[in-house]
This record gives sequence, structure tokens and C-alpha cells, in this order.
Amino acid sequence: MLHNYLQIKYPLIQGAMALISDATFAAHVSNAGTLGVIATTNMSVAEVKQAVDLCRSQTSLPFGVNVMLSQVNHKEIITALLALRPQVVILSAGNPKPYIQHFKKANIIVLVVTNSVTLAKHVAQKHADMIIMEGFEAGGHVGEMTTISLIPQVVDTIDNPTIAAGGIVDARTFKAALGLGAVGAQIGTRLIASQECPVHENYKQTLIKAKAHDTTIIGRTLGLPIRCYKNNFTHHMLNLEKQSINKKMWQSLTTAAYQRAIIDGDTDNGMMMMGQNVGLIHKIKPLHDIFKELTNHKE
Ligand SMILES: Cc1cc2nc3c(=O)[nH]c(=O)nc-3n(C[C@H](O)[C@H](O)[C@H](O)COP(=O)(O)O)c2cc1C
Repeated sequence: MLHNYLQIKYPLIQGAMALISDATFAAHVSNAGTLGVIATTNMSVAEVKQAVDLCRSQTSLPFGVNVMLSQVNHKEIITALLALRPQVVILSAGNPKPYIQHFKKANIIVLVVTNSVTLAKHVAQKHADMIIMEGFEAGGHVGEMTTISLIPQVVDTIDNPTIAAGGIVDARTFKAALGLGAVGAQIGTRLIASQECPVHENYKQTLIKAKAHDTTIIGRTLGLPIRCYKNNFTHHMLNLEKQSINKKMWQSLTTAAYQRAIIDGDTDNGMMMMGQNVGLIHKIKPLHDIFKELTNHKE
């Protein structure tokens, strides 16, 4: 159902990953049979236009663009996307209600990511095409409810198709998501350990060696919870939280540390966002193999 709707081979969506899922990565994902998604975090409107053009030049298949509504320039990016018309737009990290109808009128499929059953209900009333429910297991910014709690409670509440995110890394976890009533899955962490992913090799190696208890959540006391790999950086940040660090300082430290991890491969002092099911990921593989394995697809 999801694959027919989005015209993709496998019922999977690549989770947007700030500074990682660029135009080329999103095109690789789409070419491998699922929906590639460009993350626009920290991009100017001109950079978003360039990224959409580049992705179009690298794939003839559908792809999506993510807008985090916490971004200061999200309104300008939304205006640009209405003109650029990617096939799919994915709104996250804020209140999407004012924007859904604009995308619908422009014939752009609009998906919303949330971890709130209440917001899912409101968004459904505004006719978002599908809702992506992201559980506590996920890498990156998280809520408090797990995927196993969120999916069935949303499926029982709204009629819109629901996509599961958070903790889906292999055939078992994917099957579990379908069993809970989801029509497909959005995956992030598993794709960091793909050959095509443009993060520093050290990030990938740390991820495939990580075990069940190796992630932690920083920023809870500031209302900015982020799940990432436990290291010197998270230890330092948890200490700063005890000393009442302010949000602005927090954000500048996390932004710098994220770049240190992705670009410099600093696994001690960098922020490596990854989800709780890292302990199930042991190998770096080509995207196509990952998608086939997850969905148990036989050629
Ligand atoms: C490194 C990283 C960066 C992320 N950046 C974004 C982002 O920019 N926008 C967004 O909506 N979600 C972001 N997410 C969440 C993913 O899109 C996806 O929902 C999540 O990874 C799913 O859980 P999983 O990691 O267990 O697969 C990010 C996740 C990770 C791991």
C-alpha cells in the first residue's frame, strides 16, 4: 500500500538525517527502491533549491524533502518547496497544521512525523496523507513513548495510514511494526551503516560495534531530548545539565559536536545520534541489500 502510494519498490522511507541525508544520499536511497529524503537542517533557501535540483539530476524516482519546523527559516523553505514541487514533503519537529493544506493544494504528498497521539489526531483532521509515528527507540530527537505503544494507539485513533519509526533495523523489527498496524517504516540508524552514507567512517565503525546499552539521552532537563552514543561528549553534557546550562549554549555545543562526529569522525567528543537498536546492526552494507533484508524481499 505504502509502496504503491509513493511509487517505491519497498514500503520503507529513509528518515531525514540532518547534515547526512544530502541530495546524493537521498538519490541513492530512491534508486535503491525506497523513498530518499533530503534533510534541510541548517540550509538556506538557495541551498534547498540546489539540493532538490541535484537530487532530480541523480534520480528519476520519487524523493522527499524534510523540513524541521524548529528551523528558524522553515517558512521560507516551505514557500520554496511549494514552487519546487518535490513529490513528497515530510514535516517534523513542530506544529505542521498551518502548512498541510498548502502542500495538498500543490499536489505534493505531505507526511508528518510526530511522537504524540494527540498531534497525530489533529494532523489527521487536516488531511495529512500519512503520519509517521516515531518512538523513543529512535536516534536523534525523541519523545517518551515507545514505538510499540505509539503505533497501535494511533492506528486505533485515526484512519490515515501510519508509518512506524524508531528501532526498525532488521526483518524482525520491520515485521513487528507491520504487526502493530503500520503500513511501512521510516528508518534512520540502520542506514548510517550503509556503504553509500556520507558520514565519517569512524561514525559507522562505532555504530556497528555499539551494544544494546550504548546509547543515552541528553537534554531531557532542557526539553530537548536527543538520543546518541554514550561517550565523553554525552558525559560532559549531562554534567552541564546539572549546572543549569541555558538552551542557546546547549544548542551551539550540540551543533558543533554533531559536525565533529560527522565530518571529523571524532567519536569521543562528537555527538553521534543513533537509535537504541544499534546492538542489532553488525555490518556496513549496500543500501539495496539492507532494504531487501528488512522486507524479506525475494528477487
Ligand atoms: C543522525 C540522525 C539525524 C536525524 N536528523 C533528523 C532530521 O534532520 N529531521 C528529522 O525529522 N528527523 C531526524 N532524525 C530522525 C530520523 O529521520 C528517523 O525518524 C529515526 O532515525 C528513526 O529511528 P531509528 O534511528 O531507530 O531508525 C535523525 C536521526 C538520526 C539517527
